[in-house]
Amino acid sequence: MLKGRQIVLGVTGGIAAYKIPHLVREFVKRGASVKVLMSESAAQFVTPLTLSTLSGSDAIVGTFPSPDSGHTGKTWHIDLARSGDILVIAPATANVLAKLSHGIADDAVTTLALAFRKDILVCPAMDFDMWEHRATRQNVAALREMGYDVLDPDEGELASGLSGPGRLPEIERIADVTEAIATGSRRDLAGTTIVVTAGPTLEPIDPVRYIGNRSSGKMGFAIASAASKRGAVVTLVSGPVRLATPRGVKRVEVESASEMLRAVVRLGNGTDAIVMAAAVADFTPASVSPKKIKKSALGKDGLLRLELKPTKDILLALADGGKRKRVVVGFALETHDETKNARVKLKEKKLDLIVLNNPTKEGSAFGGDTNVVTFIWKGGRTEKLRRLPKFGVANELLDRLHTLLGKGRGPKARKVSKDREVSKAPRRA
Ligand code: CTP
Repeated sequence: MLKGRQIVLGVTGGIAAYKIPHLVREFVKRGASVKVLMSESAAQFVTPLTLSTLSGSDAIVGTFPSPDSGHTGKTWHIDLARSGDILVIAPATANVLAKLSHGIADDAVTTLALAFRKDILVCPAMDFDMWEHRATRQNVAALREMGYDVLDPDEGELASGLSGPGRLPEIERIADVTEAIATGSRRDLAGTTIVVTAGPTLEPIDPVRYIGNRSSGKMGFAIASAASKRGAVVTLVSGPVRLATPRGVKRVEVESASEMLRAVVRLGNGTDAIVMAAAVADFTPASVSPKKIKKSALGKDGLLRLELKPTKDILLALADGGKRKRVVVGFALETHDETKNARVKLKEKKLDLIVLNNPTKEGSAFGGDTNVVTFIWKGGRTEKLRRLPKFGVANELLDRLHTLLGKGRGPKARKVSKDREVSKAPRRA
């Protein structure tokens, strides 16, 4: 499946480097030609001789390769940037993620990454405290925003003896994801138009105040980004959030529930699917004061009363008597009687699928990078997913959407679901 492709494999200095000889063999077995680059610290964990022998070509170590490698004095990074079809960095240490996200190029791998204009797949592996550190989270987010593919590590036993997220994913999985990227086979939503909503809505009280909620928008943005990467034409209707627009996605900004309703009804006309991930306000002030409400407005009892009226339900407005052809997916945010409440919403709002989550549960908090969700299908079937990064949940959801759109689940679709934890926008050229 990788016949005729050149994979440039960057190895950096983490203990998981001891697994990389198997990755080289897997790439070769699938027909690829492999060129290995190593940071000097990677050479502490696996020998250049092993990787050179298995790849059939001298591994480049450090920014200034040794004289016998045949690369000295040459612009090897520019040559490889042009000849390689994909750069895979595995394992990628926390240090390398930080360097990549800041454009630092002080070893063979980071130097090539800066010159490489095609796809880059990064496979982080490290201890879980390092993986969960805020700096690493921010670096991963920045890389995704820049268009890198980041394959989230697996959870399990780590070299330290501790257990948690940080393990290098199985070799076969890294090879599958590489193959999907290099061959373009994950574009299984090509030709599909999707409207995704994200974030909170803000309901004005007066010119300076509003009622809002804690939605960060990350889930909806992850869905939009993943759908676009899989070939869909995506319009993202977003409430006010501090997130960059995923590459290739058209963003429409709204503020209040009524603005979101208007946008979704207008844009949803003629689309294949609508995914309502936004946390739409259920109540809005009955009237908006044209002037700032002063403290003198307090009543004799020392209280200020704010009257609220219900907002119009967007999903109900879309339900148009069941004649609709498009696929509609809703979310259910529940803190108690979760499944029962979600089933009621699924039925009342005439949805094809509802994604249930509970923000009070571990791994599903507002603003977090992971989510624990249950899919409930129109026919009643439920599927509980393990805790996954939001990009992972996004791709799992898109796998279901793919089925609901009647696109089937052939071998190609199954292959795509394997790279569910990868997402990025198209790379900057
Ligand atoms: N939703 C909507 N329009 C609204 C409110 C919610 O389309 N005015 C959508 C949300 O985007 C979500 C689904 O309805 O996809 C369920 O939202 P949720 O807040 O869980 O439930 P509500 O319907 O608002 O009901 P409740 O607050 O009573 O749980």
